Amino acid sequence: MSQIVVNAKNIYKIFGKKHENQFSALNDVSFTIKKGEFVGVMGPSGAGKTTLLNVISTLEKPTNGTVEISDVEITKMKQRELDDFRSTQLGFIFQDFNLLENLTVYENIALPLSLQGVSSRKIKPRVETVAKKLGIESILEKYPATISGGQKQRAAAARALVHEPAIILADEPTGALDSKNAKSLMEALVDLNRRDEVTIMLVTHDPLSASYCKRILFIQDGLLYKEIYREGSTNEFHQHILNVLSEFATTDVDE
Ligand SMILES: Nc1ncnc2c1ncn2[C@@H]1O[C@H](COP(=O)(O)OP(=O)(O)O)[C@@H](O)[C@H]1O
Ligand SMILES: [Mg+2]
Repeated sequence: MSQIVVNAKNIYKIFGKKHENQFSALNDVSFTIKKGEFVGVMGPSGAGKTTLLNVISTLEKPTNGTVEISDVEITKMKQRELDDFRSTQLGFIFQDFNLLENLTVYENIALPLSLQGVSSRKIKPRVETVAKKLGIESILEKYPATISGGQKQRAAAARALVHEPAIILADEPTGALDSKNAKSLMEALVDLNRRDEVTIMLVTHDPLSASYCKRILFIQDGLLYKEIYREGSTNEFHQHILNVLSEFATTDVDE
């Protein structure tokens, strides 16, 4: 099996119908992500970051171009196949957690497996293992309303991981967290990436969160503007990221 998890070739995304107001959100974006990479996507507001993540995550079909995930071309799939592919091969973390309020943390984490029809006997050890990795073993019986934002995002990360997806896709996962919880979530993701070779693609406007990634793709106006790799410490990488961001013509980075 190839070690390429994501192979995106010549991706275009045009919103709007022909002969109407069309908007080109992505203009010929190509990149690959190898197994075990931890990739951040940054760029000014409106640059196309979320669109790019949605194309990779099968939520949005590109107007042109192809996306392969684990050697499977998702851009040709029908809706049913896509739903199936998404629920088995992808793990999602959202800014606002997206936990179901009437389910316990345990049940939320178990959901991707129960939806696939995995037996509860097999689910239990898997939920317990991921909960332990994220340090939330002690809150499994609680309901989302009774836990902190940091704990919610760890529960969401455990849910994203429990079915051992090919890649975890996260859009602004630290966007709703204070800086202490943001740091702790990023450290947890770094651990998963290092220890278990979990492949992660993460969109963030926050240079500090981004500094935990190993590679950053910068996009501007729907184009890949630059990519950089982390060589030294997160502190050094943080500075490097700030330098690149300051090169953008606009200072209008998402707030
Ligand atoms: N469904 C849509 N219909 C029309 N335009 C859209 C749609 N989604 C995004 N866009 C436009 O595409 C551009 C990129 O959006 P987005 O990917 O959300 O940017 P980012 O996440 O980098 O802020 C923006 O100008 C946005 O207005
Ligand atoms: Mg966005």
